Amino acid sequence: MISVIVNGINVTVPGSYTVMQAAALAGFEIPSLCNHPDLQVQDRCKICVVDINGELKTACTETVAPGMIVKTFTPRVLEEKRKNLKQILRVHPQDCLQCARNQNCELQALSATLGIRSFEHKLLQLPRDTSTPSLIRDQSKCILCGRCVEVCNDIQTVGALEIKDGIVGTVDYRPLGETKCVMCGQCALACPVGAIIENEEIDKFLAAVADPDTVVVTQIAPAVRVAVAEEVGMRTGSLDMLQFVAGLRQLGFDYVFHTNFTADLTILEEGNELLKRLKEGGVLPMLTSCSPGWINFIETFYPEQLDHLSTCKSPQQMFGSLVKTYWAEKQGVDPAKIYSVSIMPCTAKKYEAARPEMNDSGYRDVDLVLTTREVGKLLRMCGIRFKQLEPSNFDSLMGAYTGAGVIFGASGGVMEAALRTVYEVVTGKALADVNFTMVRGIQGIKEAEVDLDGTVVKVAVANSLGSARQLMEQVKAGTSPYHFIEVMCCPGGCIGGGGQPIPSTVADRTRRINAIYEEDARLPLRKSHDNPEVKLLYDDFLQEPLGEKSHKLLHTHYTPKNQ
Ligand code: SF4
Ligand code: SF4
Ligand code: SF4
Ligand code: FES
Repeated sequence: MISVIVNGINVTVPGSYTVMQAAALAGFEIPSLCNHPDLQVQDRCKICVVDINGELKTACTETVAPGMIVKTFTPRVLEEKRKNLKQILRVHPQDCLQCARNQNCELQALSATLGIRSFEHKLLQLPRDTSTPSLIRDQSKCILCGRCVEVCNDIQTVGALEIKDGIVGTVDYRPLGETKCVMCGQCALACPVGAIIENEEIDKFLAAVADPDTVVVTQIAPAVRVAVAEEVGMRTGSLDMLQFVAGLRQLGFDYVFHTNFTADLTILEEGNELLKRLKEGGVLPMLTSCSPGWINFIETFYPEQLDHLSTCKSPQQMFGSLVKTYWAEKQGVDPAKIYSVSIMPCTAKKYEAARPEMNDSGYRDVDLVLTTREVGKLLRMCGIRFKQLEPSNFDSLMGAYTGAGVIFGASGGVMEAALRTVYEVVTGKALADVNFTMVRGIQGIKEAEVDLDGTVVKVAVANSLGSARQLMEQVKAGTSPYHFIEVMCCPGGCIGGGGQPIPSTVADRTRRINAIYEEDARLPLRKSHDNPEVKLLYDDFLQEPLGEKSHKLLHTHYTPKNQ
């Protein structure tokens, strides 16, 4: 432990602490910009400059040392900070009012904090990159912090971005859509400004609800509900689900359903697919297929391993094909009039919905994907106050769900949901405890073994693409010890998806995961095969898991990408 003096206050901290951490412990927040609690990148913006024993140094890079005397806000320090910030602002576009990050921008907030009112300005306007359906890059707004590069290269191991000649950009300056980008949006979560944002499509939704001939239906993904509360100033997970439904009806949705319903359905299809592969000697390990960023990743980096993927569509796409067939038929609605909007935590879902094969209903199965952030903007735009709204139930036929569907939103949730069902189907016994806690949590790779009446099934869960790559190297080498692997593209699972509220630090993701499991524990039904509307769907329409109709509507194929 080392003692240092910060602004006259003595504080004792571990020797590994930075000056910034020591100052925080002493009670002083040092304004910063490139620094991020979950990332290594530092020393690029020079905003965190402080006086250390008479010299100006960056607090995010300097580690504490014996005898250190730190002053965080002398006139000289403040002048230096303001000078460094003005350098950044000098070439930054002045269009906060038109910017997606307006009021949630670290640069904007910092300018206010440091009281910057005027500065020399020389605009460097560069074209916006709109080459993907998921994300928009605005290089003019980039403050060169490098956070996105670390996320893309070190956490996701995709390598679509790089720092070259002092510029942060795409590899070889190619449009993002021509790189290996998987559209996960993790860079957008890390970006302190509006230089990478989701492709915002709120206007398409407003046009659909304004058309009286259109039946606008929606599905809400499990990770959305816990996090959307953050968008409207509430505590994570504290928004009552049925008040959220009421709020969505106020926005203009004619029917409100839950993606949890098709998450339960996915378990029935995927669980049976796994059992079939185990019984008939099919390709193992089987890999989950519900995360579109992960699908892009395996199609790009491991195209020769595609037959390991489950052929199940994601719950979003299963919902899309069923709402325009099964639900339309039962409800007597012309499917041509249905506009299907999904509310997702994910930017890659925008790409998934636009894939050419996702039209098995005879129409585009999902017409529009709005992220949690976009729905947050809509809710704020319409001034909806949930507390005063009468709760409203989900619509029937595709609105019932179990705790197994809810936990799809967290890393390990698909695996746990599958194990709850597979165990009971194989053994014919009721599970004494449905909680498979060994696959929960934020760690990169989790493992478990489950005894199915004498057959031991070995499973693993990969959390983030960097972890998936580790497991895929084993699969590629033929040394994978597992029968079944869950992969979620985004760290923490969908609760940390690229369309979720900003910030999405590890601490935020952990809070959302806890809210997911709390909801699961509260529900009366916690196993997918107990979902009454899923049973009805099989009885009235699909007949059986992996049957003919299921194959047409609920399963898909994958395409190697050669980039
Ligand atoms: S990135 Fe921030 S400072 Fe820049 S225009 Fe957008 S809101 Fe304003
Ligand atoms: S969306 Fe994901 S893969 Fe694409 S650049 Fe951003 S972090 Fe990299
Ligand atoms: S795009 Fe955003 S995260 Fe990446 S370097 Fe620029 S400002 Fe930083
Ligand atoms: S926050 Fe320390 S250099 Fe940017």
